[in-house]
Amino acid sequence: MAKNMNSMGFFLAISLIGMLVSHSNQETLPCALKEYSTGLVCVCNAKYCDYLDDPTPSEEYVFAVVSSSKSGLRFATTHGQFNLYKKYYIFDYDQLIARSMEAPAAESIEIEVDREQRWQKTEGFIGSISDSIENILKMFPKKLRKHIYQSFFTQHGINVDFIRDLGFDVSEKSLEDSDPIFGSWERGEQFAQNLLKYLNTDSNETEPINCNILLDYEGGDAPMIANTTNHFEVYKQPLFYTMGHFTKFIAGGSVRIAAENKNDNVDVVAFLRADQSVAVIILNRNPVSVDVGIQDTYRGAVLFKIPPHSIHTVLYI
Ligand SMILES: *[C@@H]1O[C@H](CO)[C@@H](O)[C@H](O)[C@H]1NC(C)=O
Ligand SMILES: *[C@@H]1O[C@H](CO)[C@@H](O)[C@H](O)[C@H]1NC(C)=O
Repeated sequence: MAKNMNSMGFFLAISLIGMLVSHSNQETLPCALKEYSTGLVCVCNAKYCDYLDDPTPSEEYVFAVVSSSKSGLRFATTHGQFNLYKKYYIFDYDQLIARSMEAPAAESIEIEVDREQRWQKTEGFIGSISDSIENILKMFPKKLRKHIYQSFFTQHGINVDFIRDLGFDVSEKSLEDSDPIFGSWERGEQFAQNLLKYLNTDSNETEPINCNILLDYEGGDAPMIANTTNHFEVYKQPLFYTMGHFTKFIAGGSVRIAAENKNDNVDVVAFLRADQSVAVIILNRNPVSVDVGIQDTYRGAVLFKIPPHSIHTVLYI
C-alpha cells in the first residue's frame, strides 16, 4: 500500500464530492442485517442505508455508548449517567431478540481515564480510492453512490477525514476475484486491535491513518463490498463499523489521554476531542462478556457489562 502513497492528490473526484455538497440531513437509521455462513453484513441499496447521528451528550455526567458486536450490534447506542451505582448492560444483538441467555461475565476490568495526561494529537483518517474503484462505482445507481460517499465521509457516516486518490489502477480486482469473507468479525476485530496498538504507542509523531474504502486491492480487507453482479447492493462489513468506532469519533485534532487497564484481552484507548469531549474506545476480544468500570478523574465512575467480541465508544464531556 505504501508504494502508492506518493501519487496522492487530495480531493479527487469533484463530481463525487459534489454529491455531498447538497445538504444531507440523515437521521439515525439501523443496519439492515444480512446473514451469511461467515457472518453478518449491513446491506445498502439506493433506497436504504444505515446512519448514526453522533450521540455525544452536551450535559456533564451523562454518557452515550455506541456498540458493535460479532453477534449483530452495529452502532447501537445506550445512554446513561455517571455515579449512579448501577451496572449498565449492553445487551448483545442475540439477547435483544431473545435467541440466547446471557452468558455470565467472566472477566472484569477497571479503566482509569485522566484527561490531564496527554500524548499525541491525531491527524485524522484517510480513505483511499483508486481509478478502478471509481470505474466500478460508475455502474451503480446515483442514489447508492451517494449513500456510499455519505457512509464514509459525512458525520452521519463514519466521517473519514480525507479522500486520497491513488490516481491509477492499483488493481483490476473486483468482487468476483478478490476474496472477501462476508461478515467476518475476526477481520474487523483484528483491524481494531492493530489500530489500538498503534494508537497506544507512545510517540509525538502524527500522520493521518490510511484506510482503504470499498474493494480490497492488496489481499487485505475492505470495509464495504460492492455487488458487481447486480449493481444495486453494497455490503458494509464488520470492518466498516470497527473502523468507524475510531474514524467517526476521533477526528483530526483529538489528543490521546491516559486510559489504563490490565486485561490482556481488552484493549482501550481514550481521546480528548477538539470540542473537549472524551471518547473512550474499548475492544473486548474475549469470547465472554466483561464487566468494565470507567473511573474518570473529572466525572467519576460508571460500570458496564459488555458482550463477547464487541467494540464500544463511550462518549461524554
Ligand atoms: C513528546 O513531546 C513532549 C512535549 O513536547 C515531550 O515531553 C515528550 O518527551 C515527547 N515524547 C516522545 C516519545 O518523544
Ligand atoms: C449479488 O447479487 C446477486 C444477484 O442478485 C446475488 O445472487 C448474490 O447473492 C449477491 N451477492 C452477495 C454476496 O450477496
